[in-house]
Amino acid sequence: MKKSETGQTETMDSLAAVFRYHEETKHHFYRFARALGYLDWANQPDPFRRYHGAPLIPLPILASGEEPVSPLYDDLYCPGVVPTQVLSLHSLSRFFEYALAITAWKQAGDVRWALRSNPSSGNLHPTEGYLLIGAITGVASTPGLYHYAPKEHGLERRADWSKDGFAQLMKPFPPQAFLVAFSSVHWREAWKYGERAFRYCQHDAGHAIGATRIAAAALGWRMMLLGDIGDDLLHELLGLDRAGDFEGAEREHPDCVAVVWPSGAVRREASGVRSDKIVKVPLFLDENVAQGLASVRWYGKANRLSRDEPVPWDIIDEVVTASWKSSAGRRCIDSPVEPSDFSTHHPSPITPHGDRHRADAEPVPSAGRIIRQRRSALAFDGKTGISAQRFFTMLSRVMAQDERPVPLRPMPWDAIPWEPAVHLVLFVHLVEGLPPGLYVLVRNQGKKEVLRRAMHGQFAWVIPPDCPPTLPLFLLQEGDVRRVAAQVSCGQDIAGESAFSLGMVAEFEASLHQHGAWFYRRLFWETGVIGQVLYLEAEAAGLRATGIGCFFDDPVHQVFGFAGTAFQSLYHFTVGGPVEDPRLTTLPPYGLDH
Ligand SMILES: Cc1cc2nc3c(=O)[nH]c(=O)nc-3n(C[C@H](O)[C@H](O)[C@H](O)COP(=O)(O)O)c2cc1C
Repeated sequence: MKKSETGQTETMDSLAAVFRYHEETKHHFYRFARALGYLDWANQPDPFRRYHGAPLIPLPILASGEEPVSPLYDDLYCPGVVPTQVLSLHSLSRFFEYALAITAWKQAGDVRWALRSNPSSGNLHPTEGYLLIGAITGVASTPGLYHYAPKEHGLERRADWSKDGFAQLMKPFPPQAFLVAFSSVHWREAWKYGERAFRYCQHDAGHAIGATRIAAAALGWRMMLLGDIGDDLLHELLGLDRAGDFEGAEREHPDCVAVVWPSGAVRREASGVRSDKIVKVPLFLDENVAQGLASVRWYGKANRLSRDEPVPWDIIDEVVTASWKSSAGRRCIDSPVEPSDFSTHHPSPITPHGDRHRADAEPVPSAGRIIRQRRSALAFDGKTGISAQRFFTMLSRVMAQDERPVPLRPMPWDAIPWEPAVHLVLFVHLVEGLPPGLYVLVRNQGKKEVLRRAMHGQFAWVIPPDCPPTLPLFLLQEGDVRRVAAQVSCGQDIAGESAFSLGMVAEFEASLHQHGAWFYRRLFWETGVIGQVLYLEAEAAGLRATGIGCFFDDPVHQVFGFAGTAFQSLYHFTVGGPVEDPRLTTLPPYGLDH
């Protein structure tokens, strides 16, 4: 699976393998991507990984009124407004609750399944979460590596780390910083979706990144993906290379690691002069120190998730190898101690500071409530619309504002250390004051002309009525696009009966040629983060959303005029008025009733 070097030939081979995987796993009107063609229910993978023999430290189950209480949802988007929580057992518990915990159990007849803060394609949850942290009262008196166990809401201690080693590893980072990492069990998705599953695992990793950044924001913490770290190191650091610990169990593949830090801790340690308002955040870990940490005492053996061996899908093994990041960089990024120090120079375009009320004067709900109530809509009513103002606000929140340096970008884009490479093509059905039709949101402002040239020549590119000047949204063609939206989304009505649906179109060829085959996964992560923002925005607007991984790739491209592989639609999404299924019962998580 692993690569150790990236010679020129290997890079070309990797690129070719990634292009081949992408092409082969497209859904066509006449042929779906290869899968078993039936569901082997008896072999369904367990969505909950445990490490048997690893000590489990339960995190406290907190009611919504307990400390730390949630900030207002809209305050997540106002830099500097959310107070910084002290790093403690309680704040860590909230952090994991908002990022990866169970939010409800659903029941239909005798069947029960869990829903989580982070969504997942087919609710199969391939993403596993890890924590790498120093001593915390109530957790442990020495640093360690933990696996997050969502069913128990607890931390399984996988490895002991020396105090000195951990201190050395984290020395270049802000005070009290810790690391959060993700891995994927590809088999969990491949069980149902076959060859296309690798894509879904990457979407889900992106959702987890988004959910985690938002969870950190709710505690007044900052986060940055360590984009320069190579996969070999992460594999080792998380103990995923320890064959003995996975004997007879399905393997996990490293996705990414992020540094999280309470910005208030930096503030307390800074003297207040201008130069202290910047902290340098490396986008890498010191390999020697990290490797030293990985050779410590380990606990636990991974549980087996399926009755039988995973069904092999060679093309997934190939794309895993091809998109493995074997190179590592050593970039540092300047981050402000206080985002609000800078926000006055870069006002947010549509939701300025202090805007605590919606246009209709309804009080804004708490972030915790929105996170807990997030669900995917199973059906839409085809009637409920959204105001143009709210629609513009939602779209503004997926704008990374790429004219700013990364750390000064709005949350969650301040955690994503690459230039936005994904644009939205929209099917607008029911946005009050806007004509229905095809639209485009240009997320990287310098790319308007490239996009325009790549799309149908007859498109109008008109600025919609009352669109804020800072939002690069364009009406391409008026018309009723409900049928075509559903048709290209594998015939799913949820794409046509909503207020709007959309495709996330990546600058595919240029990004892969510029960065390498490993960037393939990052393109999907970016779409997952966009999706996570929109899921919560839909709830905040009194609506509901659903991610759509099942769509006919090339027919989508044809609707908008994209030829070749310069641009590729990677993920779809829909937002509207939900229709509840009365056969489903909802039960609270962890015995709580918020
Ligand atoms: C990447 C991704 C792709 C998805 N694709 C579809 C889809 O094509 N059709 C659909 O009805 N739901 C889709 N969903 C919704 C999931 O089925 C849903 O997230 C999952 O059942 C968990 O439910 P929850 O979102 O309410 O927590 C998708 C979700 C994600 C994250």
